[in-house]
Amino acid sequence: MSNRVKHIAIIMDGNGRWAELQGKKRVKGHEEGAKVVKKITTYCSNMPDIERLTLYAFSTENWKRPRLEVEFLMKLLDTYLKKELPVYLENNVRFEPIGDLRAFSKSLQKTIQMVQDETAHCDGLVQSLALNYGAQDEIIRAVNRLKKEAGEITAEMLSNTLDAKCDVDILIRTGGDHRLSNFLLWQAAYAELFFTDILWPDYTVEDLEKIIQRFTKIERKFGGLK
Ligand code: IPE
Ligand code: IPE
Ligand code: MG
Repeated sequence: MSNRVKHIAIIMDGNGRWAELQGKKRVKGHEEGAKVVKKITTYCSNMPDIERLTLYAFSTENWKRPRLEVEFLMKLLDTYLKKELPVYLENNVRFEPIGDLRAFSKSLQKTIQMVQDETAHCDGLVQSLALNYGAQDEIIRAVNRLKKEAGEITAEMLSNTLDAKCDVDILIRTGGDHRLSNFLLWQAAYAELFFTDILWPDYTVEDLEKIIQRFTKIERKFGGLK
């Protein structure tokens, strides 16, 4: 029996280093990274088994970066969403952001909401961009919402209150580091983890296919025995 992959989550890291290695500004790496988001999303939308693709685009910690880089990322996100809307629709992809969107400008929030609304009827792949997302922040926001309920909080209640409600099957981090950087700490409890040195702008569909191949052969035990 081989595993079926339903939910892939990716920490898209290495944009800045990719640009610096070529003597370019860091933001050029983000631009190239956005092109890879499109390619990987389109590929996943054509794979019937894959239901959900969650991509880490901006963390709750990324506000610490220089103001100009943060501003560039916000502008890039806005442009990307507007430009790619027809591609979401063509590929029947539903856009569902996760994270605390209240921190973004009103106009960016409007674009995010617009793409969410326009793609709400799509029933193919769900592409979830993690925007101002941090797993600890997500858990705290969920717990604060649940505080109003009577009785004890169960794991099921918490799962259903988090921004991201599906367990992760494959979690990939590009860019060479072996850490989770506050991504999907709850949902990745039994994810298979894959780390690659490839920098995100260089990441290809073939690289993802190889990981899916490896995943299908892993014996997943979830704490039980074979
Ligand atoms: C990931 O690439 C994208 C974001 C965090 C927005 P980085 O910008 O972290 O690239 P490196 O890790 O500095 O190379
Ligand atoms: C993780 O990358 C966040 C995203 C890919 C959006 P970072 O580059 O921010 O992570 P650290 O700082 O290396 O842990
Ligand atoms: Mg990084």
